[in-house]
Amino acid sequence: MAPRREAALLLLLLVLPPASAGLSGYFGTKSRYEEVNPHLVSDPLSLGPGAGGSLPASCTPLQLRAVLRHGTRYPTAGQVRRLGELHARLLRRAAGAAACPAAVALADWPMWYEESLDGRLAPQGRRDMEQLARRMAARFPALFAARRRLALASSSKHRCLQSGAAFRRGLGPTLDFGGGDEVEVEVNDSLMRFFDHCAKFVALVEENDAAMCQVNAFKEGPEMKKVLEKVASALCLPVEELNADLVQVAFLTCSYELAIKNVTSPWCSLFSEEDAKVLEYLNDLKQYWKRGYGYDINSRSSCVLFQDIFQHLDKAVEESKSSKPISSPLIVQVGHAETLQPLLALMGYFKDDEPLLATNYARQAQRKFRSGRIVPYAANLVFVLYHCDHVNASQEEYQVQLLLNENLLTFHHSNNTISTYTDLKDYYKDILENCHFKEECELPKVNVTAVDEL
Ligand SMILES: *[C@@H]1O[C@H](CO)[C@@H](O)[C@H](O)[C@H]1NC(C)=O
Ligand SMILES: *[C@@H]1O[C@H](CO)[C@@H](O)[C@H](O)[C@H]1NC(C)=O
Ligand SMILES: *[C@@H]1O[C@H](CO)[C@@H](O)[C@H](O)[C@H]1NC(C)=O
Ligand SMILES: *[C@@H]1O[C@H](CO)[C@@H](O)[C@H](O)[C@H]1NC(C)=O
Repeated sequence: MAPRREAALLLLLLVLPPASAGLSGYFGTKSRYEEVNPHLVSDPLSLGPGAGGSLPASCTPLQLRAVLRHGTRYPTAGQVRRLGELHARLLRRAAGAAACPAAVALADWPMWYEESLDGRLAPQGRRDMEQLARRMAARFPALFAARRRLALASSSKHRCLQSGAAFRRGLGPTLDFGGGDEVEVEVNDSLMRFFDHCAKFVALVEENDAAMCQVNAFKEGPEMKKVLEKVASALCLPVEELNADLVQVAFLTCSYELAIKNVTSPWCSLFSEEDAKVLEYLNDLKQYWKRGYGYDINSRSSCVLFQDIFQHLDKAVEESKSSKPISSPLIVQVGHAETLQPLLALMGYFKDDEPLLATNYARQAQRKFRSGRIVPYAANLVFVLYHCDHVNASQEEYQVQLLLNENLLTFHHSNNTISTYTDLKDYYKDILENCHFKEECELPKVNVTAVDEL
């Protein structure tokens, strides 16, 4: 590069904010954990502005149950394949594309992803987990103190097992597993991948293309069309050569390069913030219909995990009442965005008044259901059970707090960030007593494939 061009480029870089700065809030399920906790960018071990005073005074934590999403991961084999196709197309075109600086820059971009990376945990994902573990231990020092038992379970996916091991490493060597120093992660897919085990969900949602009709309609709709035309023009490609899936892969690559390598990739320069909002909506629509409020079975299939959480809380309360040591003070389970999203829907969180539809993009601009805020990489939902000493004997001793991504959640029944255990169980009584995984997940005997019968 000639020195003058180099100087001009440098000037440009100094003047322009990094392209990803405006986009990184719209990466949906591919969002960095730092998007929900920006204070971690400068200090990955900081507990954040709300840390002090958020935990109840005169209460001792008895049990902590954490359901985690694995840390930052590589793209899946399918995504890598699609990116390879798009990149190859740009390489073929680049020769005659001097008028398209974006196409030239992307043809020069080294395609380094391999299909064998297939969704594995990235080095950044290990750091996500180690740092999360250290922050959790700092927030609940009494629970994580030396010689407490930790029960660690995981989905069978490699990235989850690796995340569990990284979480364990982050805690250091002081915890007792009841069996030496070996990192022992118990695989439990019936809890962490309940969706795979739910026949009704698999047949009627996962493998039923008609169930994704809103997603497919949005891909063909006017908002996506505008993004497609813009990207095609920037790349000097005929718009017919692009489709929503290819454009989504380009956007995903922008998100992966930031999450995995902490760089702003030239793929990001294809998109404006407006485009990013449209692509975020596409991602959220899919989450909504496949994992969220779209169909009841999405969340109902998670009641097996919900009930397991309360069984362990019950047991801890019983043990405390009879002055026994708590047998499971720390339960950490590693799963997926697909584990957490249905569970949060079952509990009624992030529910909008209107459903997310292909046709209401603009009306949903202020929606609660934004996956990037709910389930970024390393997302975590934590139940903390406390024993509290009250001056007033009529107050209940057992209280619960819920934290999502290390921020207190407000309970719907009280509009408060702490609840008595009795009130909480009462609020979720119907799910606890009447949701039976086996029955919920049984395929209806009649031949149902139509979406309106779900
Ligand atoms: C998974 O967890 C459930 C609920 O705690 C338990 O009943 C089941 O035995 C566990 N499965 C395995 C394979 O450990
Ligand atoms: C990521 O990049 C930014 C800006 O280049 C830098 O300030 C930050 O320290 C980097 N973060 C990590 C974890 O390397
Ligand atoms: C819930 O609490 C917040 C803050 O304490 C308050 O602003 C809000 O109005 C309350 N909402 C309801 C429905 O009570
Ligand atoms: C269900 O109905 C569809 C279309 O009506 C048909 O193609 C399919 O074979 C049926 N499946 C079963 C199990 O009967």
